[in-house]
Amino acid sequence: MSSPVTASSRQYIPISLDESLSLKGCKHAAHCLLYSSANCSGVVYVLVQMRFDGLIGFAGGEVDVDDVTVDEIIAATNRELEEEINYHLNGVTQEEWICSHRDHSSTWIQHFFAKELTGDELTQLESTHMNAQHFPSESLGVFRVPIGGFDQRNSSKRFLTNFLRQRFAGNARQQFIETIHKLSLVSPEDQEWMLSIESSGDSA
Ligand code: GTP
Ligand code: MN
Ligand code: MN
Ligand code: MN
Ligand code: MN
Ligand code: MN
Repeated sequence: MSSPVTASSRQYIPISLDESLSLKGCKHAAHCLLYSSANCSGVVYVLVQMRFDGLIGFAGGEVDVDDVTVDEIIAATNRELEEEINYHLNGVTQEEWICSHRDHSSTWIQHFFAKELTGDELTQLESTHMNAQHFPSESLGVFRVPIGGFDQRNSSKRFLTNFLRQRFAGNARQQFIETIHKLSLVSPEDQEWMLSIESSGDSA
C-alpha cells in the first residue's frame, strides 16, 4: 500500500495496526497530535512540542513492553501525554488512531493518534504543561501553531509551508501530513497544494 504522501526513501512505510502487532522484535512508539478547531474563529490549531533535542514533534514516547497490544499502545500514549505535557483530561482511544508506520529495517513501529480538544482545553494546556513530570527534561514546552482557517488573510499557505519546513523528530512530519489528510483539517485547496509541494520536492 502506498502512502498518500509521495514516497521518498527517507519515509517510513505505512502498515496496519494489526500487521504491526504481528511483527516480532520491533520497538513501538506512539505519539498524539492534539488539535482544536472549535471556539477559535475558524482557525485550526495544533499543539506542537519543542523537544529537548531541538526537534519538534508531538507528545508521546516508547511503548515499553515485550508483547505489544493495542491496549498497551493506548496506555503508553496516555502515560506519555501525562508525563510530558501534563495532559490527563480524556485519554486517547482506538477511534483516534490515525496511522502506523515501520522504518525500512522494521526496527521501529511508529503509531500516531489525533485528539480534538476544545479551545478552552487547548488554552488550559498551554498554561499547565510545565507542571509535567518530564518538563523540561524531555519537553521544553508546547505551543499552538495555526494550520488552517487563515484564508481570509491570504496567508494560510505560508503558515503551512513554514511549519512544514521545521525540523521534525522521526517521522512526525509524515504523521502530521497524513493526519491533515485523513481528518481534512485544512481546506481541499490547501490539501491539494500540500500534495503538490510534497511531490515537487520543496519539502526537505
Ligand atoms: P520514553 O523514554 O519512554 O519517555 O520515550 P520518549 O518520550 O523519550 O520517546 P520519543 O518521544 O523521543 O519517541 C521515540 C522516537 O519516536 C523519537 O526519537 C522519534 O524519532 C520518533 N517519533 C516519531 N514521531 C514522533 C513525534 O510525533 N514526536 C516525537 N517526539 N517523536 C516521534
Ligand atoms: Mn516523547
Ligand atoms: Mn517521554
Ligand atoms: Mn523509554
Ligand atoms: Mn516516558
Ligand atoms: Mn526518553
